[in-house]
Amino acid sequence: MQIGDTSPTILVTGGAGYIGSHTVLALLEGGYQVVVLDNLCNSSEEALRRVEALTDGAIDFVCGDVRDSAELERIFTRFEIAAVIHFAGLKAVGESVRSPLAYYQNNVEGTLSLCQAMQKAGVKKLVFSSSATVYGANAPVPYRETYPRGNSSNPYGRSKAMVEQVLEDICTADASWSVASLRYFNPIGAHPSGLIGEDPLGIPNNLMPFIAQVAVGKLPELAIFGQDYPTDDGTCIRDYLHVMDLAEGHVAALRRLSVAGIAYFNLGTGQGYSVLDIVQAFERVTGRKIAYRFAERREGDLPAFWADASKAKKDLGWSASRGLDEMMADTWKWQSKNPKGYRG
Ligand code: NAD
Ligand code: WQD
Repeated sequence: MQIGDTSPTILVTGGAGYIGSHTVLALLEGGYQVVVLDNLCNSSEEALRRVEALTDGAIDFVCGDVRDSAELERIFTRFEIAAVIHFAGLKAVGESVRSPLAYYQNNVEGTLSLCQAMQKAGVKKLVFSSSATVYGANAPVPYRETYPRGNSSNPYGRSKAMVEQVLEDICTADASWSVASLRYFNPIGAHPSGLIGEDPLGIPNNLMPFIAQVAVGKLPELAIFGQDYPTDDGTCIRDYLHVMDLAEGHVAALRRLSVAGIAYFNLGTGQGYSVLDIVQAFERVTGRKIAYRFAERREGDLPAFWADASKAKKDLGWSASRGLDEMMADTWKWQSKNPKGYRG
């Protein structure tokens, strides 16, 4: 898909969420028109208002569920959708172990109803939010797209692997589909304005928002899960990437949706950092001290993984350009300006 004289309209499911809102911003800046479908179960409409203010653009927002086929049909009738970016879903690993049905319903059933509506409307271009978690526990690092999907240790990861399989089968059955399945590594950071960012409900599960909330005084200290992993400093290593780089990766993937079939892309930097690296970088860049203690390992955590990001560079012309300092500075700008997130 190319941006021509007209600006194509993209349906963004889950567009009010963390990655979705940053991607909507990148789309508007790239000349696209955007329709967002989100049930706001883990987000706020305020994020979209702020994106509009930042871009001077207008977003068509539909508050609804991606599993609601009638709602989807209305959207595809009302708007001339050129392609879909599908973020909508649940993402908390621990919660998925306790509530597997909710995960399969939102993530798998949600994608099925979306694809059905797309097929009916003749819209067959899709960018899907997948995850590095699909590589499972035994893949050697760096992860490459050619590796088979492994056995994820939790329903969240399995829901992503299942959806990839469904999308692959759809593309095999009908060559007019074009799908990019983007396997994100660890997105962190925020738009440099500090106006939009990650706003988790309750106590954050993920490292970066946890650190940010310690820094702002909302949480007393960080528990670092494990100090005896086989890494240089004993803490786990991940491939953290700036959410604006990730957002731009979606625009790059959208442009490639003229190629038939499904393609998988790792979106990461290709560089791993340990938990202690992240804590120290945050302290250095922001001048805030982070109180921490070492705790037991968290079940299901892998010692170290990062991306081989060369395929995205070669085929999408995309690579992450923002470094760790920018990720830390932008996280802090968002958190310090919005200590209570969008509810403040
Ligand atoms: P998020 O929770 O901030 O965004 C998801 C959005 O989808 C939310 O706005 C939520 O309200 C909406 N939503 C959920 N279920 C819905 C439904 N049934 N119908 C309509 N809207 C629904 O999460 P995020 O971090 O922005 O993640 C976006 C996508 O990327 C998810 O699919 C997630 O699994 C995937 N992903 C995230 C990460 C990460 O670390 N954040 C990593 C890999 C993959
Ligand atoms: C990073 C590191 C923790 C919190 C998860 C999902 C994955 C993907 C991204 C969606 C780990 C350590 C964390 C804390 C800590 N999401 N940590 N104290 O686990 O790599 O990936 O989010 O697809 O599927 O599994 O990210 O940010 O939770 O953890 O020490 O309070 O920080 O042990 O080493 P993770 P994370």
